[in-house]
This record gives sequence, C-alpha cells and structure tokens, in this order.
Amino acid sequence: MDPVRNPFAPGAGSPPPELAGRDEIIEGASIAIQRILLGRHEQSQILLGLRGTGKTVLLNRIENLALENHYLTAFIEAPEDKVLAELLYPKVFHVLRKLSLVDGAKAKTHEAMRALRSFASVFKITVGDVSLSVDPESGIADSGILEYDLSDLFVRVGEAAAAAGKGWALLLDEVQYLSSKDLSALIVALHRASQKQLPVIFFGAGLPQIAGLTGDAKSYAERLFKFPPVGALGRKAASEAIEQPIIGEGESINQDALEMIVERTRGYPYFLQEWGYQAWLVAEAAPITMHDVEDASARALKRLDEGFFRVRYDRLTPKEKEYVIAMAQLGNSPYRSSDVAEALGESIQTLGTRRAKIIRKGMIYSPGHGDIDFTVPMFGDFLNRQNAS
Ligand SMILES: Nc1ncnc2c1ncn2[C@@H]1O[C@H](COP(=O)(O)OP(=O)(O)O)[C@@H](O)[C@H]1O
Ligand SMILES: [Mg+2]
Repeated sequence: MDPVRNPFAPGAGSPPPELAGRDEIIEGASIAIQRILLGRHEQSQILLGLRGTGKTVLLNRIENLALENHYLTAFIEAPEDKVLAELLYPKVFHVLRKLSLVDGAKAKTHEAMRALRSFASVFKITVGDVSLSVDPESGIADSGILEYDLSDLFVRVGEAAAAAGKGWALLLDEVQYLSSKDLSALIVALHRASQKQLPVIFFGAGLPQIAGLTGDAKSYAERLFKFPPVGALGRKAASEAIEQPIIGEGESINQDALEMIVERTRGYPYFLQEWGYQAWLVAEAAPITMHDVEDASARALKRLDEGFFRVRYDRLTPKEKEYVIAMAQLGNSPYRSSDVAEALGESIQTLGTRRAKIIRKGMIYSPGHGDIDFTVPMFGDFLNRQNAS
C-alpha cells in the first residue's frame, strides 16, 4: 500500500500512531502533576520496563502533560558515562532563565541562580555555552556533598517556580545509568522539595534493574516513588495499536492477520510498530491478509536482527557475548546464573564481574535472586538465530 501514508513508527522514542493500552499510566501521571501544583502530596514516578516497551514515548507524553499544566520542564536522558550534576546544570539554567521573565518570581529566581552558581563551582561543572553572571551565595549548595547541595538547589528552583505560579517537572530517561550515589542524592533532593510542599515533580524511566536498589537508597525510593510497570500490551490493546492506525488511513486488515501480528510480536510495542510497518508495505491493497503478514514477519525479523538487536549485541565484548549466548542456549527465561556458569564451565563467583558488567551496560538484569534475563524482549531468540546461521 502507499508507502507515503504508512502510519507505523518503528524507532526509539518515535511517537506511535496509536498510544494503545497506556491510559492508566497517563491518567496517573496527570493526576500527580495537577496535585503537586496545588501543593498536595504525591509520589514521583519511575516507569519500569524492558527495551522497546514505550517508556521514552510515555515520558515525552508526560512532559507534554506537564507543559499543558503550567510546568516548566527539564528532560534529560542519562548516558552511561556522565554525572547527574553535569546533566542537570544546563537544564536547570534554562528553567531559571524562563522563570526570570515572570513578574513576581524575579527575586526568588535570582536566589536560585545563585544556588546554581555555587552548585556549578563546587562540582566543577563547565558547560561551554552557559555562563552565570550572578554571585554565588555562600552556605547554599556549596558543601560539595551532592545530596545536600542538590537538595538546596531543588528547593530554590521549587521556590522560584512557586513564586511564578508554576511547577517544575524533571524527567529523566534511562535512570539505570545513574550511579547509585547520584540516584541516592536525587532521591534525597526530591524528598526535601516534597517535604516543603514545593511544586517539583519527578518522572523517570528505566530498565527493571533499578527496582533492585539496595540499602538506604532502596527503602527511601520505595517510599518516595511509584513504579508503574510498562510491559507488553495485552491482546486488545495490541490489536488496537495495529488496527486503529490502518482504519485511520481508510484501509483495513483481516482479523486472522491481525491476530497473527499480535501473536508474533507478543504485544511488544516496538515489534508491533515494525510488523505493522512491514505488513503495510508488503500488502498490495487492503485488506492486509495473513499471507501479507507472513511476508512481513520475515522482513521485520531481518530489520530487527540488523538493527534493534544487532546494535545492542555489538556493544558487548567477546567474553560478554559468550555469556549471553550461553544464557540463550538454556532455553526459556528467566535463566539461573548457576546454570549459565555450569554451561560455561566456570564458577558463579568468577563470572560475577562479567555478569555485573553486562548488567551495567543495560543488556541483562536480575528479575529475582539468582535469576538473570535479557532487558531486550526476544533477545534470546535473536542470539539463537545468529548461532544457527
Ligand atoms: N502504547 C504503544 N502502542 C503502540 N506502539 C507503541 C506504544 N508505545 C511505544 N510504541 C512504539 O514502540 C517503540 C519503542 O518506544 P520507546 O518509547 O522508544 O520504548 P523504550 O523507551 O521503552 O525503549 C516506538 O516505535 C513506539 O512508536
Ligand atoms: Mg527509551
């Protein structure tokens, strides 16, 4: 069918034509955003899910909700190798610059700018295009202890936002890449702002492993955050994700073809987009048939093998590849770490570091004690396909 009108959107963070099955999460976020602005208590949220389940898309959607509700927003994607202070600095600067234009918020914004200045110098942040012309305020955000200084900063930003009659929403994608030190400080700072009933809200998204925090950070996080799970879509939502966009273009798909797509993709949002996209392309004309989906499946898998799966596989060292291949060969997930060790002829202890490094790269995670699984759905099948060919 007409490639120009193909509605499907496979790609990291690409907004889908139909955001299916996420009403509850969006509603929950919307309520939280409105409550915080009124000074009511509400937990911050971290969306947890595997790769390709639609976390980034949701986070963007939530940012829009915040903007519609008189918030200033800062959207950050945590890379593997940067510290939080450095990521936050330019974003907070832009938020404050906007607040400085609001009558009635100028004095508070000036104070927040001074706190930001202290924060930048104590953590030796240098960001080329952003320079602050205010003087630092001594005793505020300058202790060099991240959790104290971040708390001072968040409180000042919250006060400036409140003075402007606005809120501040911080959105952080790929939370699992934050160091535990950064994450703990973030938790403390958010907690402080919340105790002061300031209009500051946080939405994060990340791989399930962040739920496996330990110690103080864990008990704190459990009280402060909600963790809405973002998983595969159920049958009905998955069907809608495919059918609605097709109908929206005035085309159609047969029921059995639709079911086949839901089956093959197991309802995973990224895969749904890929299958929908290919099915649209291979079909000569509406309705899309089972035969079309059969062809589309081969193409979709090829695209995933060369892209979505491949880029992640390529980030592993040869030794790490050995480990994940051994996992895949065990069959059904989750896998026991002890079984992987046995398959590789090594002890769990000697493999510990390797396993930890792969977890750090966001490729695998531990869904429960002694268990290990892929953070990319159907990654095991991919590895077995590679090995077979
Ligand atoms: N609710 C949904 N229904 C249909 N497709 C979706 C949905 N959410 C996300 N997608 C699609 O899934 C893919 C991955 O989304 P993304 O937000 O990048 O996932 P994640 O951040 O969890 O890896 C994108 O192509 C997007 O269009
Ligand atoms: Mg993402």
